[in-house]
Amino acid sequence: MEYKYPRGNVFYRKLDRVYPLIHRGEGIYLYDEKGKRYLDGSGGALVVNIGHGQGDIFQKILDQMGQVGYVHGTQFTTKSIEEYGEALGSKLPSGLNKIYFLSGGSESVEAAIKFARQYFYESGEPQRWRVVSRWNSYHGNTLGALSLTGRAGARRPYLPLLLPFPHIPPPYCYRCPFEMVYPSCGLECAKVLEKLIQMEGPETISALIVEPVGGATIGALVPPEGYLQKLQEICKRYGILFIADEVMSGMGRTGKWFAVEHWNVTPDIMVLGKGMSGGYFPLSAMITRGEFVDRLQKKGTNFVHGHTFSHHPVACAVGMAVLKFFDEKRLVETCVEKGRYLLRRLEELREFPFVGDVRGKGLMTAIEFVKDQKTKEPFPRRERFTERVVDLAFENGLVLYPGTGFVDGVNGDMVMIGPPLIIEENQIDELIGLLKKTFLELG
Ligand SMILES: Cc1ncc(COP(=O)(O)O)c(C=O)c1O
Repeated sequence: MEYKYPRGNVFYRKLDRVYPLIHRGEGIYLYDEKGKRYLDGSGGALVVNIGHGQGDIFQKILDQMGQVGYVHGTQFTTKSIEEYGEALGSKLPSGLNKIYFLSGGSESVEAAIKFARQYFYESGEPQRWRVVSRWNSYHGNTLGALSLTGRAGARRPYLPLLLPFPHIPPPYCYRCPFEMVYPSCGLECAKVLEKLIQMEGPETISALIVEPVGGATIGALVPPEGYLQKLQEICKRYGILFIADEVMSGMGRTGKWFAVEHWNVTPDIMVLGKGMSGGYFPLSAMITRGEFVDRLQKKGTNFVHGHTFSHHPVACAVGMAVLKFFDEKRLVETCVEKGRYLLRRLEELREFPFVGDVRGKGLMTAIEFVKDQKTKEPFPRRERFTERVVDLAFENGLVLYPGTGFVDGVNGDMVMIGPPLIIEENQIDELIGLLKKTFLELG
């Protein structure tokens, strides 16, 4: 049978493709019903940090469901929620100690927007509600999160529904938005935040949100030294909260528990998702400082928020099991070396004329494609270059995560490579082999 729209009742996310039916996952591999093997080179959307089919996680889900599968977050707590809170808390940057558990990354971003707003509301600054974000960012697809997301194609159909949140350009050194060169640029892309705040009115801005390493929209964009520190300095100057969106870059993906740690920046709010559960269960979090939550309590109020599935006992049991797995296998520590090896091997691909840039940190990496290596001219969108790469790689048994439209809102091609952190060196070689085969076949 072919799983393809319009057959059956499933409203597929892609209406133009045939879906292989996956039967089983094991480590970095997926197997479909016909026995075809796929190397999961992107862990879905950089989600599957501990790999597929890790038996212990499955048992932990069953154990928790056997005890209690659900309680409401306003009525009860469970050992799984308390234990996971404790364990995750021990990994967090100092000062970030209050964890609001949720189900997905967009939800955690929504919670961050609302928490920042309510914090100022309760602090006698109710006019502070706008959050600044960046173009070429990804913060989610719900309307609040999409208002922050700087991906033109995802925003376009919904523009009338979006909130007027201002955006600044990203630290995209490969195509500097200011046509400058680091370090002589003096970090213009960070300084521009201050200009924007002044023009918009600092008294109207509650927070700045950034992905410390840019993800799904721009592909493993590592900021230049000093950039995040500069942003934080500006936020502090204007009393604006700094939100780190670590939904993709967090949970060990870049070789530290959280990417901000590479630059010694501690945010006021951090949002997590994806790798928290390694994909085994929907789980995310909005995390902030105790003193901010105290402010609400002293005002005799709560965070006016919540979902049916927030603070979920099974999700937290999964989170705990994933965290233990991380520690047992030293996945964060080993990610550094594996990431270096992966990047070194990816660099070899620059010999292909359509590889413009190779970038990343830890096991969060990307390849940007160009029509011309010298001029960096992108492929015209109608050539669907990324789709061709991804489809051919898929045929060859390699899963990649695509991104398009980041050069000018229409053009721009890249794929992300972010395999499970359990990947071994010889498997990285296999991944590179499949990429080379794919690139050769592309001609
Ligand atoms: C940085 C970042 N923030 C937020 C989200 C939204 O998460 P979700 O798709 O779980 O809603 C994503 C998803 O890719 C992401 O990469």
